[in-house]
Amino acid sequence: MSMNKEQDFGTPARTASTLVNLEIDGFQVTAPAGTSVMRAAASIGIDIPKLCATDSVEPFGSCRLCVVQIEGARGMPASCITPVAEGMKVVTQNKKLADVRRGIMELYISDHPLDCLTCSANGDCELQDMAGAVGLREVRYNPQGENHLNAVKDESNPYFSFDPSKCIVCSRCVRACEETQGTFALTIDGRGFDSKVSPGQNEAFMDSECVSCGACVQACPTATLMEKSVIEHGQPEHAVVTTCAYCGVGCSFRAEMKGDQVIRMVPHKDGKANHGHSCVKGRFAFGYATHKDRITQPMIRKSIKDPWQEVSWEEAISYAASELKRIQANYGIGAIGGITSSRCTNEETYLVQKLVRAGFGNNNVDTCARVCHSPTGYGLKQTFGESSGTQNFDSVMKADVIMVIGANPTDGHPVFGSLMKKRLRQGAKLVVIDPRGIDLVKTPHVKADYHLKLRPGTNVALINAIAHVVVTENLVDQDFVQERCETAAFEKWTTFIADPRHAPEATEAVTGVPAADVRAAARLYATGANGAIYYGLGVTEHSQGSTTVIGIANLAMATGNLGREGVGVNPLRGQNNVQGSCDMGSFPHEFPGYRHVSDTETRTLFENDWNVILESEPGLRIPNMFDAASDGTFKGLYVEGEDIAQSDPDIQHVHHALREMECVIVQDLFLNETAKFAHVFLPGSSFLEKNGTFTNAERRISPVRKVMKPLGGYEDWEITQLLSNAMGYPMNYSHPSEIMAEIARLTPSFASVSYEKIDSLGSVQWPCNDETPDGTPTMHEQSFMRPGGKGLFMLTEYVATQERTTRMFPLILTTGRILSQYNVGAQTRRTENVAWHSEDRLEIHPHDAEDRGIVNDDWVGIKSRSGETVLRALISERVQPGVVYTTFHFPESGANVITTDNSDWATNCPEYKVTAVQVAKVSQSSEWQQKYEAFSQQQLELLEQGSHHA
Ligand code: SF4
Ligand code: SF4
Ligand code: SF4
Ligand code: FES
Repeated sequence: MSMNKEQDFGTPARTASTLVNLEIDGFQVTAPAGTSVMRAAASIGIDIPKLCATDSVEPFGSCRLCVVQIEGARGMPASCITPVAEGMKVVTQNKKLADVRRGIMELYISDHPLDCLTCSANGDCELQDMAGAVGLREVRYNPQGENHLNAVKDESNPYFSFDPSKCIVCSRCVRACEETQGTFALTIDGRGFDSKVSPGQNEAFMDSECVSCGACVQACPTATLMEKSVIEHGQPEHAVVTTCAYCGVGCSFRAEMKGDQVIRMVPHKDGKANHGHSCVKGRFAFGYATHKDRITQPMIRKSIKDPWQEVSWEEAISYAASELKRIQANYGIGAIGGITSSRCTNEETYLVQKLVRAGFGNNNVDTCARVCHSPTGYGLKQTFGESSGTQNFDSVMKADVIMVIGANPTDGHPVFGSLMKKRLRQGAKLVVIDPRGIDLVKTPHVKADYHLKLRPGTNVALINAIAHVVVTENLVDQDFVQERCETAAFEKWTTFIADPRHAPEATEAVTGVPAADVRAAARLYATGANGAIYYGLGVTEHSQGSTTVIGIANLAMATGNLGREGVGVNPLRGQNNVQGSCDMGSFPHEFPGYRHVSDTETRTLFENDWNVILESEPGLRIPNMFDAASDGTFKGLYVEGEDIAQSDPDIQHVHHALREMECVIVQDLFLNETAKFAHVFLPGSSFLEKNGTFTNAERRISPVRKVMKPLGGYEDWEITQLLSNAMGYPMNYSHPSEIMAEIARLTPSFASVSYEKIDSLGSVQWPCNDETPDGTPTMHEQSFMRPGGKGLFMLTEYVATQERTTRMFPLILTTGRILSQYNVGAQTRRTENVAWHSEDRLEIHPHDAEDRGIVNDDWVGIKSRSGETVLRALISERVQPGVVYTTFHFPESGANVITTDNSDWATNCPEYKVTAVQVAKVSQSSEWQQKYEAFSQQQLELLEQGSHHA
């Protein structure tokens, strides 16, 4: 395979509907108005030399290498900043132009190290290419003259280096940081010869605002900004397009390889979710895949007190199957179950639920989406008829008012966060509803119009107050509601929501948000043309998570903000395949495509295809499995890709349940927290080692492609298949495309999805069937997906959480994530990303800290009704008085020792976001942490004793 570079058209595409005809070097060209002459030329294969232009950023016109001649025009305009005009006649090559270009190149080269042969960019340097393109053969300037050749390198970033001696001050990096990433970390200091690029105020990269997205590295035409992996291993040889395995943005990447080694991940320009951008995780944090902690040999043991024993695949699988069968014989069919993960591919998740339903003979299958977005599934299904977000990401570029509720896009969904910031810089209005001051509230050139700093746990009261303003101030879009929604339900809702108890003045005492701000924000959203709502786990992970989702859906319907671009209700999914794992039927009550297991017609469809009789009663949800294990009725569990022993709430209860089980089978990359309680370990494969698909937050199904062999020998779907066969339920797939063909055959919204289609379109958004064979970017355009096609308003009474602050527990703890780390951190903690975040900290307001005599970096104990843990304090005004905040990326932090077992009324999604706590200065780790440390140490020793992993 050769390394086909993506074409660089020099300047960004324009989308004007007016087309312009011109002639370039005698060829006729047609381009949308506003297109540069450079891009128009590139579109017919004429590459005009360039240095300061690249198609990811707006042109700058500084190097003048791209000069052309235009008939009737004076001088030599730069083609990157000259727009096409009707009838224009352009010449891109002649002697005069060649002389000018050669002269320019000579100037550049005279101040550039002449070490091409040993330069790490050799073969991938535009300066080198251009010297060749303009035929530069000698440099007449004195190389001993004044130059920048001794400028000092900045190696502070763990992933890329900055060598200013090679900088040609083209400013592509500066523009990439501003336009693509929106961080504005780079500046050009000085003028003329003295001008130079630097992060912040002449700081090192790591001390600056830089978030290490890598956009500048990608934009740099020289070796000035360069990936350290390329410096170390040399230029890649071939590339494979695949999809990021981290967050729900689902960025498309070219994995650039040398043999079976990933040299770098380069965001793919054609990626529909990311358009060539990425964040620090997807671009740089792939080293975990080959980390020394990977376990690549299957292992078994009788008891968790025994050392692990390395065994063959055959032995591990047959032991696992015999244990599961033994347990079913002793304790009943329902005594075992399976858990899949939103980190798995669609095909893997589909197979796990099939194994459980058809092979185990029960419906005890659940997924980690239970603990994040299950309320989204429930709330949107009830109101709109489909459990998914309504838009694609690009839709935000048409939004006029953006409302962000309980989400932190710049940390949690960084590439989408950058797109949103771009729209905000263009002038869209912003309402942030969050207890904490997330970055979006104020970032360069972006300031929220309203930041409604509510008390954690009062979302429903606030959303009701906003809806109250919409209804009582006559801001309802009556045409939309009359035409598109069930009117009787709407009338009932209007009466309910107009009640004075929902007025902002009445709810102010509950939410803590000034009534005037609520009124103003509501008016802005309802009247600002296109209003788009984006929300995250700050909405769902509450005892009323489903109610808030329904409240958001009501609000969007009442204001007519659905069914077109620029509007909608958009859940931001945390992990890469949260949408997909839900779509694939990994919940105990639903088959793929959200069809209830009790529905005879659906069940018959699956029974006929799978050749087995299926259970019609829903199975156990994750928390029910733990309860049943504690009660002694649930004894065996197959967990693929999920770390329940770290990520689930009230962790001491989870650990107890795991200890009670007789056979816990963990299929994963590392000896994660759950594996410390396991009896069988099956080595899983990373996203680089398998084929499959992920579905992102826009319902976009994107390809995951194998770029190296699975280190443990099998792709994950193959392992599930082996286990199923050993259990006596035959599966015979030879490739994940066959699994997708089965999904399409059995799931109406996937009916036209196939690997061929994904290969030809790049990706496809479901629903994708006969009616929409190329997929559906915007949902509910003409009618809602509910039977009858009408949207349903539902009542959303606010009920305060049981988790109340008291004198003993006067503060509210809420949790979230940070850009550089991902979820339980099993992957990102095994990369250089720890340079940004090496421990979880407790953010506390200066007043609360002062009251308790706490200063920055102090060890503080955080105690709730469930347990106690200890973290270091970070004094911060991002949190309001009375609220403390932490991330949950490190197991030893034990954030889930303190979270309670309260959960959403409809879906059991845990209430991670509200825990009443007390905080006090302490001098040592908590009892739980000490026990955890000892247990963890013991388990690592048992691993060492019994195995010799790679
Ligand atoms: S890595 Fe990203 S944030 Fe950092 S300077 Fe480059 S473009 Fe800006
Ligand atoms: S660092 Fe690279 S992109 Fe930035 S100005 Fe220098 S040469 Fe251009
Ligand atoms: S983590 Fe998310 S935003 Fe970052 S590269 Fe991966 S998919 Fe994109
Ligand atoms: S590429 Fe046009 S001026 Fe530099």
